[in-house]
Amino acid sequence: MKKTWWKEAVIYQIYPRSFMDSNGDGIGDLKGITGKLDYLKYLGIDVIWMSPVYQSPNDDNGYDISDYQAIMADFGTMEDFEELLAGAHKRGIKIVMDLVVNHTSDEHKWFVESRKSKENKYQDYYIWREGKDAQTPPNNWGSCFGGSAWQYEKGTDMYYLHLFSKKQPDLNWDNPNVRQEIFDMMTWWCEKGIDGFRMDVISLISKTKEMPDGELAGLYGRYDPYCVHGPNVHNYLREMNQKVLSKYDLLTVGETPGVTPELAKQYAGEDTHELNMVFQFEHVEGDGIYGKWTDQKPSLHRLKKIFSRWQTELYDTAWNSLFWDNHDQPRAVSRFGDDRPAYREASAKMLATCLHMMQGSPYIYQGEELGMTNYPFQSPQDFRDIESINAYREWCESGRLSHEEFWPCITHKSRDNARTPMQWDNTAQAGFTTGTPWIAVNPNYKEINAKAETADPDSVFHYYKKLIALRKQYPVIVYGKYELLLEDHETLYTYTRTLEQEKLLIVCNFSDQETHFTVPEEFAHASCLISNKDRDYDKAEMMLRPYEAFVLYKK
Ligand code: GLC
Ligand code: CA
Repeated sequence: MKKTWWKEAVIYQIYPRSFMDSNGDGIGDLKGITGKLDYLKYLGIDVIWMSPVYQSPNDDNGYDISDYQAIMADFGTMEDFEELLAGAHKRGIKIVMDLVVNHTSDEHKWFVESRKSKENKYQDYYIWREGKDAQTPPNNWGSCFGGSAWQYEKGTDMYYLHLFSKKQPDLNWDNPNVRQEIFDMMTWWCEKGIDGFRMDVISLISKTKEMPDGELAGLYGRYDPYCVHGPNVHNYLREMNQKVLSKYDLLTVGETPGVTPELAKQYAGEDTHELNMVFQFEHVEGDGIYGKWTDQKPSLHRLKKIFSRWQTELYDTAWNSLFWDNHDQPRAVSRFGDDRPAYREASAKMLATCLHMMQGSPYIYQGEELGMTNYPFQSPQDFRDIESINAYREWCESGRLSHEEFWPCITHKSRDNARTPMQWDNTAQAGFTTGTPWIAVNPNYKEINAKAETADPDSVFHYYKKLIALRKQYPVIVYGKYELLLEDHETLYTYTRTLEQEKLLIVCNFSDQETHFTVPEEFAHASCLISNKDRDYDKAEMMLRPYEAFVLYKK
């Protein structure tokens, strides 16, 4: 397997709006990030991926871009961006930009023109179709944020496609001018010196021309077979690679809803000339009761199956990205671990161990390294996210479910859980802002914050720091081959990694119960690299404590 810097890197995701506010307007900004670079350097990460910082009317918090070559006024200026980039590079940290090119904002100049008339030169930059009749959209595709994926326009007497909100019209990638404009824009950013792209819903960019009805009317557009991994997606990515990506030394990761290991080998194969790696979603999806909404803990059995399939199938042919959460997911410790005070720290460390010892590039979402938790929502007025607001309307206000039925589910999965401000210290607003934050701070910031955790050698923060450092020290963590042990065990996730003479044993107790474990003979004299409990790891028979995790190493 080829060795590359991005296979060895640990990536830290920043959601700029919620990271650090430098000027007291309640909104995180670029200067705020620059001021925290030393914190990130101390943690030891190699790369920052920033959610979008471009000009945007913020219908979907920056994922609706109205100018790809300007910085959102809330976040600062292009000079602030350049200062951040230079400050990061000075510390040996790379910066990866979010690239949102499945759609633009409806306020982007291309769309402003496009909707003017059928004759406009930009009309074909987007996907326009005639309705079935005056009242009926061209097909039954649904938007990911609810309702139809089509919006009628009086001016053109046609509908435009929007797989997300109606303020996020989908670009027409079949138009070569669209592709060229996007590639030119990407080149412009590369020339500025950025280090890569995280590509938003990139598996959705190519749509079938015919646009037939999906089998399931009204289902989220993205599950429809006609717009996910569409007919030309690989051609377009190869073209992008040839015209832009191959000219620079970049980290590229595609957000690819609906991806399977088979498809990942194409998107991110060692020699397919598309992307370095993709985000797959199997382990964070498919657990819902009402659509994606649920209050249930995912099954460990299912998790083991999914991770093991990805670890095994991509080995030596493609590269995995590893994550428990991001800005679209609830907090990892609340979802996969246990955020009750007695178990929060242990389970956060256990989850980190489980993920960071797998093959792939780990992504840490801001605050995950502190064990930040879900937010205790009190009422629908607390939501800021378009998805949660629409979902509450669609499921509850419509009368489909009662508030009592739906509330535990939507509060458990809401994307706003991840978007509450980063908890820096125990002063007002967790030190995030001197003003009023755009979204409420989690009241547990007095106990859970960066200041307290950097001062405490036993904190979740220091555990992450150690995991990151181990990765730099032991090539087996990056390149070793994965093998699952105890497949059917109800509460333990146990696996090994092997690279020539070196071998790791990873043991994670996913439950709040004690669990018996026998150390395999071959690890009898192994050393313990890291663990979240204070004990002697020489014994062959152990009673693992709730959420205990450890890694043994032998040569
Ligand atoms: C991706 C982003 C998400 C956004 C959507 C539309 O899934 O991660 O935040 O809402 O794309 O751009
Ligand atoms: Ca600000």
